[in-house]
Amino acid sequence: MKVAIVGGTGSFGLALAKRLAGAGYDVVVGSRDAARAAEAAAAHGVEGAANADACRGADLVVLATQADAAVETARALREAIGVTPVLSVAAELTFGAEGVVPTPEATSVAARIQEVVDAPVIAGLHSLAARNLGREDPPEEDALVCGDDPEAKAIVLELAERITSGRAIDCGPLPSARALEGLTAVIVNVNKRYKAHAGVRLTGVPREPEP
Ligand SMILES: NC(=O)c1ccc[n+]([C@@H]2O[C@H](COP(=O)([O-])OP(=O)(O)OC[C@H]3O[C@@H](n4cnc5c(N)ncnc54)[C@H](OP(=O)(O)O)[C@@H]3O)[C@@H](O)[C@H]2O)c1
Repeated sequence: MKVAIVGGTGSFGLALAKRLAGAGYDVVVGSRDAARAAEAAAAHGVEGAANADACRGADLVVLATQADAAVETARALREAIGVTPVLSVAAELTFGAEGVVPTPEATSVAARIQEVVDAPVIAGLHSLAARNLGREDPPEEDALVCGDDPEAKAIVLELAERITSGRAIDCGPLPSARALEGLTAVIVNVNKRYKAHAGVRLTGVPREPEP
């Protein structure tokens, strides 16, 4: 399974690349600049390429650019992505004196990405901080995932299960992305208030979902 990480030179993309490579995935780190991708990727023993080249030939495209660039980047990569499933990890936040809040857009980043690509879009992993993901041991957290396409969601759930020591949990259809993205603001506020590196664990969830 080949995973392209668009914007993979950032802290989240590189932490994910490292963990996926450790779990046996083929990983290509993408960047707007092929040389930057190659340099960043080499440090983790994976491939690097320009974003569009990374997408071509991948089985899953993770959009891990700066959050406010995710929709326009997806639009620009529409052809290169084709019908390859896309995972959106982006959460748009506004930082203010009172704390961190989600941006006021009516729909999630993931839903807006779905409007500009032909591929099925899944949203997830928002609550896994790059810092926790990049540690030697997998984070002791659950990974929350939502989306409308069952096959694409199954690919992401399997990937998520392999990068945490917690669970990958199916949180329903793509509109749930609004809540998953917003949860990031909650976690950032908790981190600031408690000087923590918080993650999320759901309790009382059976091992398998009901059919
Ligand atoms: N950081 C976390 O702990 C964390 C946790 C969960 C989810 N996320 C999500 O993961 C994504 C990446 O987070 P991050 O902290 O790694 O972000 P970041 O470092 O700010 O940005 C990641 C990469 O985005 C690319 N980029 C920047 N501006 C761009 C633009 N205008 N157009 C296209 N690409 C651009 C850059 O790569 P090149 O310059 O090489 O192209 C950069 O290395 C975000 O959507 C965030 O919401 C982050």
